[in-house]
Amino acid sequence: MYILEKTADGSHTFFVPELNEHYHSVNGALTESRHVFINAGLNQIEQKEISVLEIGFGTGLNAILTCLEAKSRSIPIHYTGIELYPIDKKWIKMLNFPDEIDMENSVFDYLHDCEWNKDARIDAFFTLHKIKGDLTKMRFNRTFDLIYFDAFAPEKQPEMWSPEIFSHLFNQTNPNGILTTYCAKGSVRRMLQTAGYETERLPGPPGKREMLRARKL
Ligand SMILES: C[S@@+](CC[C@H](N)C(=O)[O-])C[C@H]1O[C@@H](n2cnc3c(N)ncnc32)[C@H](O)[C@@H]1O
Repeated sequence: MYILEKTADGSHTFFVPELNEHYHSVNGALTESRHVFINAGLNQIEQKEISVLEIGFGTGLNAILTCLEAKSRSIPIHYTGIELYPIDKKWIKMLNFPDEIDMENSVFDYLHDCEWNKDARIDAFFTLHKIKGDLTKMRFNRTFDLIYFDAFAPEKQPEMWSPEIFSHLFNQTNPNGILTTYCAKGSVRRMLQTAGYETERLPGPPGKREMLRARKL
């Protein structure tokens, strides 16, 4: 059960009453995704082909923004998104992302309709591999240039922010790779450092003073 809400920049998000938590920032869902994941993450990667992992595929907002970047910059991107609780299509249909981003509904639909656990070619430059699975039990066999860590907040889902998970993600991060997250908590920064990442605090999106970016040198 979700409650559809409009955020400060006009883009939608879902509120999850059981967790008392939103999928995105109420200060602007689209603004947050662009700031934390596209600008602080994707735009910092220099490789000619990029392998991305998203923790918490959710509404597909980060995936669709990444797909648009892949197209506009002609950079092949392989995008793995893990999700334990896929959102039913009847809810996805309510989201105004295609209008807000000015893209075709059919691409956003295909992102959600394509099969789980196999590669789907969304565009010549964008291949999506959605994994229906539990991050806390997952061992990835690919390596990644970029990780979007977009789990619900540590206070709501502490099991997603564990030293073991960050250590595994560090092992699966390519040299010069980046992990980026909206979260700025000191305990998360220390877990990332213990895992082996160099971390930096960056200015956060509207409504958040800071966010974190981690690099594997
Ligand atoms: C903050 S939301 C992600 C928002 C998403 N990136 C988007 O743009 O819509 C966190 C996501 O993590 C998912 N999740 C929760 N527990 C999980 C688990 N154990 N493994 C994988 N995904 C999980 C939730 O269902 C939710 O979709």
